[in-house]
This record gives sequence, C-alpha cells and structure tokens, in this order.
Amino acid sequence: MSHNSFGHLFRVTTFGESHGPAIGVVIDGCPPRIPLRAEEIQAFLDKRRPGQSRFTTQRREPDAVKILSGVFADDAGQDVTTGTPIALLIENADQRSKDYADIADTYRPGHADYTYDAKYGVRDWRGGGRSSARETAARVAAGAVARKIIAGVCIRGALVQVGPYKINRARFDWREVERNALFCPDAHSTPRWEDYLDGVRKSGSSIGAVVEVVAEGVPAGWGAPVYGKLDADLAGALMSINAVKGVEIGAGFAAAELSGEGNADEMRAGADGKPAFLSNHAGGILGGISTGQPIVARFAVKPTSSILTPRRTVDRHGNETEIVTKGRHDPCVGIRAVPVGEAMMAIVLADHFLRHRGQVG
Ligand SMILES: Cc1cc2nc3c(=O)[nH]c(=O)nc-3n(C[C@H](O)[C@H](O)[C@H](O)COP(=O)(O)O)c2cc1C
Repeated sequence: MSHNSFGHLFRVTTFGESHGPAIGVVIDGCPPRIPLRAEEIQAFLDKRRPGQSRFTTQRREPDAVKILSGVFADDAGQDVTTGTPIALLIENADQRSKDYADIADTYRPGHADYTYDAKYGVRDWRGGGRSSARETAARVAAGAVARKIIAGVCIRGALVQVGPYKINRARFDWREVERNALFCPDAHSTPRWEDYLDGVRKSGSSIGAVVEVVAEGVPAGWGAPVYGKLDADLAGALMSINAVKGVEIGAGFAAAELSGEGNADEMRAGADGKPAFLSNHAGGILGGISTGQPIVARFAVKPTSSILTPRRTVDRHGNETEIVTKGRHDPCVGIRAVPVGEAMMAIVLADHFLRHRGQVG
C-alpha cells in the first residue's frame, strides 16, 4: 500500500513530516542527460518559502535543497541527470513543536488531526505531521525537475480571487504577478487585497482564495484516455494539494450556465495547417487529450483552519472542549499554493509527455 507516490513514468515519492528533521522527494523515471543544478530547483522553492511577506506564516524556513543522488557531471563537466533516482532533501530548520503540545490530544477543526487518528491510530501531531502543507515544498522541488523535461512548456500561476474579491480579467498581466507578494495579475486588485488581508490577519482570522494555473506550449496529443485523461490527472493532482476544495478546467463550473453554441470552441484553418480555435472553454483539453491550446486550471483553496478565535471541538477521549490554534499561520494559504499548483501542473505534464512518447513515439 503506497500512496505517497504519484505519476507513472515520471514518478514522484515525497516523504517527511512538518517537524521531523527533513522532508524530501525521490523522483524515479527522469530521463538522463538533462542539465540540472540545485539553484534551478531553489528558485522555485524560494517562491513558496514561508516568511517572505506579512501575508504568509512567519515560520523561518530557508528551504535549502540538497541533491543527494541522480545527478552527475557529464563529459563536458556539466551536472546532468543520470537516469537514476533523483533524491532531493530539504531540512526543517524552524520547528516550534511546543506550540503544538495542546493538540496532541485535541482535534483542530478543519485539520486532519481526527482523520489521521481515526485511520492510523497514531500520528505525529507536531505541526500537523505528514498532513502539514510543509510537504508541498517537496512537490515544488519535483516540479522544478519536471519543468526541465518539458522545457518548451511555459507554466505560470496567479491568484485570481481572495475572499470575495476577484481580479478584473481585462487587466490580467502575467508581468504583474512577479511584482507583488500575492501573485496577483491585476495591479488594481493588489492594494485592495493587501488592505483586506491586513484586516484578516490583524483579527486573527483567515480567508480562502482561487488560484489559476496556465500551461502554454503543450502540443496537441498529450493525455491517456480513458483512465489517464489529462484533465482527470490534473484535477487529481491539484485536488491533492492541502486545503484545495474545488478544481475546474477551462470554463469549469461556469460551463453549466452556457449553451452549446456559447461553449463550442469553434475552429478555423490555422496558418500552420492545424486548427485555430476561436475560444478556449475546454481549457485546452478535449477527450482527455491536449488540443494545443493553453491548458487552464483553477482551484479553490479554503481559508486557513488555524485561527485565533476559539472553536469548539473534542479530544481523543471524546471530551468536548475548545481550541485556539497557536503557532504561526498564513492568513490566506491560497497565496503560497500558487507555486504548488504550478508544480503539480508541471509534474502531470512531464509524466504525460513521457507517456505519450512511450506509446506514440
Ligand atoms: C502552501 C500551504 C500552506 C498551508 N499552511 C497552513 C497553515 O499555516 N495553517 C493551516 O491551518 N493550514 C495550512 N494549510 C492547509 C492545511 O495543510 C490543510 O488544510 C490541512 O492539512 C487539512 O487538509 P485539507 O484541508 O486538504 O483537508 C496550508 C496549505 C497550503 C497549500
């Protein structure tokens, strides 16, 4: 029974707990001779790293990645993948397990404390243990390697909604995402979100968000019907991220309100001999196979469960009690979920590229 591994030909296994000595990932199936340096992985980890703004947890984790295996200098002296398992290690540096002593016996509402206990009968309660989103750093590291396999694909993520405030789509600018700590693509929304999140943070509360991830440059043909459909794998991958409660591809839930005429992505003959689509309600996937259009996925992230207002709960022995979650927490975990969503998109696409190549050549 192994459920900490993901992917078929590009296979990712993560390990570690929030307050253990380290977390990490083993990647098996990465093709050989791909140049890979730790700094390239580090750049993506730095985007997800906590403590970078007042809107994310103040836990100080350098998230410095070490390549333990699977990379070696080629004849030209360049570090490349060797085709053997790539093991990446990220040490935990800033654990404060005493913040969590109260929850050894008491279940935090919105967390996985009760379900881990119900399932396993034992759990590492320090910082949420394995259920903590600390694990997502390992996904981001794996995503950086996946990107190298599909170097022609551009994968970008942005926050498109914070609480009730959506971006104005007409002002969507990818360059803007790089300019603010919220990964917001709409310059007008950023200050409004900052004010709003300041209020949320000061009141010790939290709020949900929506993240959008777009992959451009995926050719038509990736995806494995019928049980390995690209959209199905993508939805599963994004849904496996902590705190994600909804995933949509393309028009998503809005498709329910569209007519057949409105939803049809009409085609004209493109200059390159391939169809030119006039819209992209399908989100770049038809029949579980990429169309060559941008692949567009969105996911809803619930509000951070750890808040300063007391919540009613029970303990392991069935006693009713109240809990205030101590420790350091993001007021909106959707912000740091952006690089994680990008990583999961990259892992799914790299795996499907290899699967497509394996079957079709
Ligand atoms: C990047 C990221 C950071 C997170 N940080 C926190 C946090 O600081 N506090 C918290 O209560 N939940 C946090 N979460 C969410 C919890 O890990 C998650 O809600 C919990 O493990 C229960 O799992 P579930 O919500 O997927 O059911 C974070 C999620 C992500 C994606």
